[in-house]
Order: sequence, then C-alpha cells, then structure tokens
Amino acid sequence: MPSADEIREAQRESWVGLSAGWNKWDASIMEQLAPVGAAIIKSLDIKADQHHLDIATGTGEPGLSIAKLASSGRVVLTDFVGEMLDIAQRRAEAQGLTNIETVVCSADDLPFGDSTFDSVSVRFGYMFFPDMAKATEEFVRVLKPGGRLCASVWVKPEENPWTSIVMRAIASEIELPALQPGEPNMFRCAAPEFVSNLYKDAGLSEVSEWDVPVVKITDSADEYWEMMSEHASLAVTALKKVDGTAKLRIRERVIDELTAFKEEDLFRVPGLARCIIGIK
Ligand SMILES: C[S@@+](CC[C@H](N)C(=O)[O-])C[C@H]1O[C@@H](n2cnc3c(N)ncnc32)[C@H](O)[C@@H]1O
Repeated sequence: MPSADEIREAQRESWVGLSAGWNKWDASIMEQLAPVGAAIIKSLDIKADQHHLDIATGTGEPGLSIAKLASSGRVVLTDFVGEMLDIAQRRAEAQGLTNIETVVCSADDLPFGDSTFDSVSVRFGYMFFPDMAKATEEFVRVLKPGGRLCASVWVKPEENPWTSIVMRAIASEIELPALQPGEPNMFRCAAPEFVSNLYKDAGLSEVSEWDVPVVKITDSADEYWEMMSEHASLAVTALKKVDGTAKLRIRERVIDELTAFKEEDLFRVPGLARCIIGIK
C-alpha cells in the first residue's frame, strides 16, 4: 500500500498530464457537469457577500459560478496542480470575474485560518485525496460556525456508462487491476453514506445526500472517443498500458457501443453523481 505522500505525488503527476485534455474539452466537460454544479450551489445558499472556498477546483467550477453570485464577496479557488489553476484564472478573466483568487495547495493541508469561509465546495475531488478524513477535518476547520460544506462524487460504474463503456472496451484488451478502496479512483466514494460518514466523523450536522443525473452529449462518436481518451482519468491511465493496434480495437468497440445511446442526431450517454451537504 503506497503512503499518503506517494499517493499525493502520483495524483499530482497524473492531473498535470490531464490538464491539457481538460482545457481542450472544457465546453463539453462543463456542460456535462453543470447539473452537479447547480445542485451544489443551490444547497450552499450563496449570498452576495459570501466568502467561499472551492477545493480541487480544476478549471474553476463550481467556484467561478459561485463568484458570479457572490458579487460583493470573494471566492478562493484551490487545487494542487498549478496548470489547472492557470486555466481557471484564464476562464475567470474571460468571464470578467475579479472577486476570485487562486491558491495552489493540497486539500488535506489548507493554508487558511480557522473559521475563515462561509462555505466550501468540492466537485469531484474527494475520491482523489490520499487521506479523505484529514481533508474533511481541514474543510470543517476553515468553515465558520454555521457554514456549509457540499461535495459531489460519482455513483458506481454501472450507473455511469459515459465512462464505463470505455473501461469495458479497455478491459477486453488488457487485464485492468482491481480498483483498491484505499487508493484514488473515480469510484472510490461510490458507496451510499461513504462521504456522509466522513462529514459526521468530522463533526458536521444536518448531513444528507442525494443523486444528480448527468448526460454526456456529442454529435460525433469519433469526438466522443477523442474526448474520453484525453480527459477521463481512469481511461487515460489505463490506455497508457495498451499498444497502438489494441488502442484502435478499443476505439472501434467504444464507437460501436455508443450507437445504443444515439437519439436522433446526438449521442446522449448518462451518468449519476451524488451530492453531500453538511453544516458546521
Ligand atoms: C475531476 S477534477 C474536478 C475539477 C472541478 N472541480 C470540476 O468539477 O470541474 C479533480 C481535480 O482534483 C484535483 N486534486 C486531486 N487531488 C487533490 C488534492 N489532494 N488536493 C487538491 N486538489 C486535488 C486535481 O488536480 C483536479 O483538478
């Protein structure tokens, strides 16, 4: 079992590599994840003067959307990958947002004082943290009393064909290592109550969770393959282990499976996320 430091460094390296794909496919990724961002924002009840912290912000969501609502407040966007935060900064500038700042830091070691923020969001970050309990304690520490934490994670692979059809196709060519519960992967927090229990252990109250459907939409199967093989964390990692001809067969298989999701001129591939809210 790798140590927390080894996990953090491997994850950092992996996300530095994924940042180009997240930049290239930004519009599609943001469209797919928007319902989850909207659910997080609604549950946080953002006020105009909100002081908000977005953890593992990647290219900036949901932090940038929150900055638009917190017009006289401030939003701090954090991630442990500077390349991701550079994209977030550019997106903020393009949207004319001036009430944000970016800070490179790891979720389990936050450079902020106790009781600093009214709210904290973590959209699709939890499953990658080396020590999720320690990270939750940090989120609670920096929240003001009465402040809210809302995170989202992915529900099990069977509910997420948008990524599992690619993983099945890869598994038809190579033996994929079993996902280890102690190590980061997209589905590590999929069990019901998993994140709720982390919240409760860290002292949050009024904890509840609910599922939010998403859809990945494209008008081109080729584009779908390109997009998935360049930004989806599990697929990108697994594809590093296959050679060129196997990759072509995987691509054909994915494109074939996609036909089941064709509706008129669009491919609409579903997924399911879970949001978890708690109050300090
Ligand atoms: C799936 S992306 C989510 C990005 C964004 N929140 C969104 O929903 O579009 C996961 C992000 O978590 C970041 N991350 C992973 N482990 C982290 C850690 N230990 N501390 C801070 N950020 C981390 C990655 O760099 C990446 O940007």
